[in-house]
Amino acid sequence: MCGIVGFIGQEKASDVVIKGLERLEYRGYDSCGITFYNPNESKFVTNKTTGRVSKLLNENDYPDNNHLAIGHTRWATHGVANHSNTHPHYSMNDRFVIVHNGVIENHKELVFKYLPDYKFRSETDTEVIVNLIEKFSKELSVLEAIRKTISLLEGSYALLIIDTQDTDKLYAVKNKSPLLIGESDKGIILGSDVLAFVNYADNYYLLEDNSVITVEKINEKYNFEIFDTIGLKIEKPEKHPMDFVTDELDKAGFEHYMLKEISEQPAVVRKIMSEYMDGNDLKINYKVKSLFEGVNRVYILAAGTSYHAGLIGRVYFEEIAKIPTEVFIASEFAYNEPLIEPNSIFVLISQSGETADLRACLVNVREQGFKTLSITNVPTSTLAREADQTLNIYAGTEIAVASTKAYIGQIAVLAILSNCLSKQHSLDLVSEMSRAAVSMENIVDKRDYIEEVVQKTIKGDHCFYIGRGIDYFVSLEAALKLKEITYIHTDGLAAGELKHGPMALIEKDVPVIAIISQDHINNNTRSNLEEAKAREAKPLVISLDNTSKGNDEIVLMDVHRLLSPLVTIIPAQLIAYYKAIDLGVDIDKPRNLAKSATVE
Ligand code: F6R
Repeated sequence: MCGIVGFIGQEKASDVVIKGLERLEYRGYDSCGITFYNPNESKFVTNKTTGRVSKLLNENDYPDNNHLAIGHTRWATHGVANHSNTHPHYSMNDRFVIVHNGVIENHKELVFKYLPDYKFRSETDTEVIVNLIEKFSKELSVLEAIRKTISLLEGSYALLIIDTQDTDKLYAVKNKSPLLIGESDKGIILGSDVLAFVNYADNYYLLEDNSVITVEKINEKYNFEIFDTIGLKIEKPEKHPMDFVTDELDKAGFEHYMLKEISEQPAVVRKIMSEYMDGNDLKINYKVKSLFEGVNRVYILAAGTSYHAGLIGRVYFEEIAKIPTEVFIASEFAYNEPLIEPNSIFVLISQSGETADLRACLVNVREQGFKTLSITNVPTSTLAREADQTLNIYAGTEIAVASTKAYIGQIAVLAILSNCLSKQHSLDLVSEMSRAAVSMENIVDKRDYIEEVVQKTIKGDHCFYIGRGIDYFVSLEAALKLKEITYIHTDGLAAGELKHGPMALIEKDVPVIAIISQDHINNNTRSNLEEAKAREAKPLVISLDNTSKGNDEIVLMDVHRLLSPLVTIIPAQLIAYYKAIDLGVDIDKPRNLAKSATVE
């Protein structure tokens, strides 16, 4: 994870980098730091904090004429979040400064073999890189020293490197961790995500793995060049305009991004319908459709919330498209591969399109010759670019760390794709999805009521969501939302499993929330809830009009039973949100997490 930003040019570099880091805080916020060149004192200055990026700006002075800076916002992998482990890191003799996103797996071996006499100031794997560069630069040019260093590294790394002896140059490397280049008349910016470039670049470029970049002044203008690992110059990649909807990056009057993004969910469904449906015709690219020809089995791979969307995708592929489907957690599949049916396709679901566990799977299954489709929210992401085909979920930038609208987008796209692959187009998606969007809107509008329910019901340190079938899959996601933003221990359970062990945890007033949207298992789930009530649990039911009974607390407007996840998850997202408000925790940036998991 972690976010890195660097700038060289005619703007106040520290401002560009700090603003960029603020936009990248979603990638990690354990600590952050910046190094910039102060021309007034002819020296490099480094500021670090274990607080948020805003502190870097508010608690330090930056001269207006600083033109070169690199910065980092950290999600700790090696060493706790303290000052010395915070990037940027200097080489032992202070010649080079580096920021790094990724993990160097063989860093201990490298110290043993190449740097036995070096003194280290942190516990990070990153310091090894900067010291190797310093060591090799004694006999090689800086560029050669960087190339020699990366030839020894095993792992993932996006690097920005300053040579303190050359204040008009910036170096960068990309391998397996994301890095992009932004360009304007005023300079060159490099960063982990195009979001960091907003307001500072006119165009941006995506980089391939194993790229080494130099940025320097040529004819009064900063320019970049890209080399491969053996030093051959590579042609610049395609230039993309920065046609960003910057409104998405603001809270639009909401107190938190999470609530804004929950509220946007009906619009996401409508946007997806307009992108992929033309009346009753489906506009899924024929290349995507043809990938499924002759396929006997679908394997869905994903992590976290996207995995939960994948579980619902399995129901769609099997019930609507009639293709047997299996779903795997990416980090499990990567190292414990099952026996794979030969005529299979892999569908990789990821909001960010950068999750390292998934990338490892993608590389692996492509090497084995399988067809691949990614479903992501970022069409320029690694998974979108590297899979055979990709489908955009059009959810718009999701900023809150807890995923909400991307989950909805993934489910909607999976429903449309399955229907497109179905011989009978068995779902009347136009009316069913429109109806779902209205039902979603109803519950978002009644969110004050959910706040009241939270006050009455969600108490204590434990909570359970239960459900059967598709409701069980929603329970998993509902539980993840509550635990990740409130830190209340929450499990999502198949309702019938409660009595097989977890019931031992039920005691007075432990909330047990049942999701009941399917007629055929309505009574079964209710019986399981009764069993919990008999042990003094605090019950709460989320149902639809046609599955509701008696005093159900949260009753939602009816939708097609297969589309119920689009609706039943919303009260659960709101329960998590309002409980987090009640507890006064940082809703958009929950502790220990980051939005983009770019380490395995
Ligand atoms: C939870 C959440 C995570 C992500 C997971 C995968 O709210 O957002 O569980 O779903 O880290 O990330 P993506 O979807 O970007 O691959």
